[in-house]
Amino acid sequence: MKTILHIESSSNLHTSVSREIGAAALESLLRAHPGAKVVNRDLAKNPVPHLAPAFVEVMYTKPDAPELALSRELVDELKASDVIVLEAPMYNFNIPSVLKAWIDHVARAGLTFQYGANGIEGLLKGKKAILVLGRGGMYAQGPMKAMDYQETYLRAVLGFLGITDVETVLIEGVGMGPDKRAEALTKARARIATLTALKAA
Ligand SMILES: Cc1cc2nc3c(=O)[nH]c(=O)nc-3n(C[C@H](O)[C@H](O)[C@H](O)COP(=O)(O)O)c2cc1C
Repeated sequence: MKTILHIESSSNLHTSVSREIGAAALESLLRAHPGAKVVNRDLAKNPVPHLAPAFVEVMYTKPDAPELALSRELVDELKASDVIVLEAPMYNFNIPSVLKAWIDHVARAGLTFQYGANGIEGLLKGKKAILVLGRGGMYAQGPMKAMDYQETYLRAVLGFLGITDVETVLIEGVGMGPDKRAEALTKARARIATLTALKAA
C-alpha cells in the first residue's frame, strides 16, 4: 500500500490556490492508487517550532534526547512515505517560514543524509514528490525568474535528502487579476493530469 504525505503550508485557509490545487492532486493520486494511506501535516494550522538552542545542543550527540522527539516523529513520517504532496505559497520569493521550520526538523545528518566516502549522500531514496506552488507573480519565465527561491530551494533541499523524482504544479500570476488567477487554476488542473506520479505503480 502506498503512503502519501500531504504537507500544507499556506496561512490562507479559505482562498489558497496551493491548498485548492494540492487537494485536487491528492484526489487524483487516490484515484490512481485506491487504498493509499494519507498522512496530513498542516504546518500553518499546526506549526512546528523553530529550532531551539536545546535542540541544537543535543542533535549530534544524543539522538534519543526528548528535545528531538518531534524531529524523530517528522523524520519517521517522511521516511514512511512513498509520495509527498508538498504545497507551498511563495512568500517574499521563498517558502513560508513554517515550511522552513519543518525542513530544519527533517534534514538530519545520519537520519536523512550522511557524509560518506563519496561526499554527501541523501538517504531518502525511491520517493516521489509533487510540489504545488502558488505565486502572485510570474517566475517560470521572464525577468522575475532569478527571484524564484521557492521551487529552486525546494528542489535543492529535497535532492540533498535523496528525493530527486520531483514534479511541479505551478499556479502563478494569481495576484495579477481575476482572469489571470482563473487561467492559472485551469492550467494547474490540466498539469495534474500529466503527472507521472499518478501512474499506478
Ligand atoms: C506574506 C506574503 C508574501 C508574499 N510574497 C510574494 C512574493 O514574493 N512573490 C509573489 O509572486 N507573490 C507573493 N505573495 C502572493 C502569494 O504568493 C499568492 O497570494 C499565492 O496565491 C499564495 O499561495 P496560496 O494562495 O496557496 O496561499 C505573497 C503573499 C503573502 C501573504
